[in-house]
Amino acid sequence: MEERSPDLTLGPIEKRQPLISSIPIPRKWTQLGRQGPLPAKLKPFHPKTLPSLLFLSLPVSEPWTATSALRTSTSNLFSAAAMDPKAMKSDLVLILDYGSQYTHLITRRIRSLSVFSLCISGTSPLKAITELNPCVVILSGGPHSVHTPDSPSFPEGFAEWAESNGVFVLGVCYGLQLIVQRLGGEVRVGEKQEYGRMEIEVGKNHGIFGNKSVGDRQVVWMSHGDEVVRLPEGFEIVGRSQQGAVAAVQSLDRRFYGLQYHPEVTHSPEGMETLQHFLFDICGISAGWKMEDVMEEEIKVIKGTVGPEDHVICALSGGVDSTVAATLVYKAIGDRLHCVFVDNGLLRFKERERVMETFEKDLHLPVTCVDATEQFLSKLKGVEDPEIKRKIIGKEFICIFDTFAHELEQKLGRKPTYLVQGTLYPDVIESCPPPGTGRTHSHTIKSHHNVGGLPKDMKLKLIEPLKLLFKDEVRQLGRILNVPQGFLKRHPFPGPGLAVRVLGDVTKNNALDILRQVDEIFIQSIRDAGLYDEIWQAFAVFLPVRSVGVQGDQRTHSHVVALRAVTSQDGMTADWYYFEHKFLDDVARKICNSVRGVNRVVQDITSKPPSTIEWE
Ligand code: XMP
Repeated sequence: MEERSPDLTLGPIEKRQPLISSIPIPRKWTQLGRQGPLPAKLKPFHPKTLPSLLFLSLPVSEPWTATSALRTSTSNLFSAAAMDPKAMKSDLVLILDYGSQYTHLITRRIRSLSVFSLCISGTSPLKAITELNPCVVILSGGPHSVHTPDSPSFPEGFAEWAESNGVFVLGVCYGLQLIVQRLGGEVRVGEKQEYGRMEIEVGKNHGIFGNKSVGDRQVVWMSHGDEVVRLPEGFEIVGRSQQGAVAAVQSLDRRFYGLQYHPEVTHSPEGMETLQHFLFDICGISAGWKMEDVMEEEIKVIKGTVGPEDHVICALSGGVDSTVAATLVYKAIGDRLHCVFVDNGLLRFKERERVMETFEKDLHLPVTCVDATEQFLSKLKGVEDPEIKRKIIGKEFICIFDTFAHELEQKLGRKPTYLVQGTLYPDVIESCPPPGTGRTHSHTIKSHHNVGGLPKDMKLKLIEPLKLLFKDEVRQLGRILNVPQGFLKRHPFPGPGLAVRVLGDVTKNNALDILRQVDEIFIQSIRDAGLYDEIWQAFAVFLPVRSVGVQGDQRTHSHVVALRAVTSQDGMTADWYYFEHKFLDDVARKICNSVRGVNRVVQDITSKPPSTIEWE
């Protein structure tokens, strides 16, 4: 249970609640289990069994379609044929997702410890889980109650499989309640719900809390309504909240652990230490997941997948993702990679020239530039709905790729077989909602055109070498591939370009031209102030409304533009960036003085959620 925002109104805990030691503890700490966890070297199962990232990311068995891509994002992504025991360099921590807003944060936190972690749907069939051969499975939190009919759960046989194969299981929040309920304990609707910052007390100085002393307290982030009231056989309580509720449980001999709070969020300051202790000391995981290995593995698999006569095409956007993806594929197959850069008329100021120069001079990537401005803008004329805009743009891109592929066929005497895309893990996640959320793919927040908007009849097979990586990991990979820093540090730019930054019809009001000028002034000012690298993404938005102003003694009726700058880790959540007033004042003045048609500048001060980063 969760989805509450931080309770910042909490005063010092001592003043509000009696501490645990001073209130009757409702239930006795249970006895220590019969024996400790199996030492890592004795584990009967899960040797170094990391499935190759590349295999995972290549749904090569069928031509790519929008539907297959969505399927790929869960089960197909992890097909059994993808296993290459020789490539296994790290132990896998598998996250079963039950819809918590923090699930992917757990994945990222674990990867930051150089341990490979993947996240799949919490209702995946047992086979999908066992084929991945994880050492550790973490059951995520989620907005459900175990008492709700149809609340998502792990598959039949999961607990038995984990126990008999020496797999460690950690339940977080809802995940803990699932473990307790499914293994024979009891969870009830709590008398006192616990949301926000809380204090818990350590009840055992071994197991999940490592060497912490009994009675030690720590602040954690709670978010639950239901409460554990009876433990399954072999479990013991190892932590309680200040209200006496069960905060942590474990069964050392069964290798099941549970935390009622979220160790992955920064509001649980000692949470990372607990996770680290759990993974390395309890589960005996080795931290062997390195980006160099990812690169080598990806190159090897691309070489093995793309036949010696096969040709591959790649659409470059000028952004980090497609550039890194192309550089990787180029390293693997050389001149059989054919890149195309499309000027769709929706690019930023002088972007075409700047990007082409970098491809040629810095990356030495052979790239064909196609000017398709007319083709895109004529199709977008009169279109106001953002999703329709995205679909049109996706479709036009494909038409251009098809033409490009056809021309290549004429030249090479054979059809290109593969298309490279720089799809990232967050794109896949956002297009594939977790179980139990009630959302289906059609309720996807935005149909990112590189995931959901391509036509069903596309014949090229897809190579998505970055499909399981987060943005910062892609930048890391790019650095290893010697992609210039300037490129890697570029702010993300959406595939549909300025079309999602001009609200409404992009062809009206000279909007694109105005937006380019405003955006350039804003971005250049950010660079000049040395702030570019502190900001995840900054851009201007054109609003199709006019406001009254006065310029040069004349009354004006001109457009409003909005400035948006956010900080973020991976684009999935974001905070708006705090500029100094002087900076904003200078930028607004500069824009109104130099861009004809603008007499008002506003700043977007919403975070994500509730807003998204882009305006459309
Ligand atoms: P939102 O607006 O969904 O954006 O909060 C998250 C990140 O994704 C980028 N974005 C897109 N990228 N096609 C893309 O390739 C799209 O349709 C699209 N929409 C948003 C956005 O710029 C941000 O970095």
